[in-house]
Amino acid sequence: ESQYHEMLKPLSWLFGKWQSEAGKGEYPTISDFTYGEEAEFTPIGMKPMIEYKFYSWKPENKMQLHRETGFIRIKPETNHIAFMAAHNLGVVEIQEGEVQGQELTVQTTSLGRTSFNKPPEVKSVRRTLKRTGNELEQVMSMETNKTAMTQHLKITFKKVN
Ligand code: HEM
Repeated sequence: ESQYHEMLKPLSWLFGKWQSEAGKGEYPTISDFTYGEEAEFTPIGMKPMIEYKFYSWKPENKMQLHRETGFIRIKPETNHIAFMAAHNLGVVEIQEGEVQGQELTVQTTSLGRTSFNKPPEVKSVRRTLKRTGNELEQVMSMETNKTAMTQHLKITFKKVN
């Protein structure tokens, strides 16, 4: 964490480990739910690249829920960023957008899925991450083949490492 490519500076506010037991999940087609989640962002190697992961669980029994892992890249000399995300539910995505101060917004630009995914089909995902002090808020909305772009997740992580 102490040494990273200088081109990653606009994203350095993400570095480290984040946790919350009080994520709020919702969607028009399901019941509201609460979830725990850990997020980690690690600058890797000599290239301007970040490895990241989001691991979530059910607060009642710690059972694993959604998991996402991938890499973040930044277009040199710009605030244009890209997440390359692999979701355990059979979806891979590229999300692109911009970082501005300690806040970023990205949205799906391409998406792939396995031939045997459970319906509904995710069509697009929009994510915002925003740091305030030692808190990191993530809001995630998604569009499926049945539902227009609607919020699915909101969580405020605390920095743990
Ligand atoms: C539904 C949790 C992230 C896509 C659900 C359900 C839960 C859940 C509990 C209801 C499951 C059911 O009724 O079978 C979570 C948690 C997440 C997360 C804890 C992360 C912290 C995501 C992400 C995506 C996604 C990133 C898309 C890339 C969906 C879809 C459904 C769903 C498509 C089904 C909605 C429907 O039936 O219309 N999620 N989810 N989830 N989630 Fe997530």
